[in-house]
Amino acid sequence: MWEYTEKVMDHFRNPRNVGVIDDADGVGEVGSMACGDALTLYIKVDQQGRIKDAKFQTFGCASAIASSSALTELIKGKTIEEALKITNQDIADYLGGLPEQKMHCSVMGREALLAAIANYKGQSRESLASPLVCECFGVTQEEIERAIRENGLTTREQVTHYTKAGGGCGSCHERIEEILARLKKEVPVVALPAQRRLTNLQKMRLVEETIERQIRPELQKDGGDIELVDVEGNRVMVSLRGVCTGCPSSNITIKGIEQKLKEMVSQDLVVEEVRQ
Ligand code: FES
Repeated sequence: MWEYTEKVMDHFRNPRNVGVIDDADGVGEVGSMACGDALTLYIKVDQQGRIKDAKFQTFGCASAIASSSALTELIKGKTIEEALKITNQDIADYLGGLPEQKMHCSVMGREALLAAIANYKGQSRESLASPLVCECFGVTQEEIERAIRENGLTTREQVTHYTKAGGGCGSCHERIEEILARLKKEVPVVALPAQRRLTNLQKMRLVEETIERQIRPELQKDGGDIELVDVEGNRVMVSLRGVCTGCPSSNITIKGIEQKLKEMVSQDLVVEEVRQ
């Protein structure tokens, strides 16, 4: 039995906006009954490009129904540009969180939204076609890459939890590992758009990765070094090492580190030096 939040159970028992919009301006269909989850999203867009109505039909578990319901509530009243910024994590957050093994339901919602907006804009499915990686669950390379980038995924098991890819016969495992390895080289895997809201875990990973890959090598060139001590909310505590220890200009170094972390992780971060 999955541990669902009260909000998930509420949206499962009383799903909002179920149904069809006969004269929809955009329709997005993702998944298939054969794969166990399917979602069709309908959007009605007004003259100003604002989504004035959204409805859905879904076939799936409690979290698929709740995620679809949450998605429609999130997009109603938003412009197309605003809706495009909604991520699967936003859907999960709206519901107070989802078990990791059920995150694929939020990803399905996000994919349906992108498909409905593409349909509204008159983009054909063919023009958006991406190679199929997982035949068991009909998951494309683009869907897997998006889930990895937007959620900072690092393992094949996580990719399966977020997209279902790899959860069947297993013949796509090698392809998924290849995609993970390739994206890891495109430093950094968990780099997210600046305006993206990060979970604490994502923030910590990204801070750590930015320090390791970008800040430490620069300090080491001059005989210095850095140690990440802790991250509490938006406070990043670091300790300077090597020639940086006790340097009278260390506040300038700290400001430079803060600038880099603001650029790569979040504008809200504040870096503090911990003298040990
Ligand atoms: S092809 Fe991906 S699990 Fe079977």
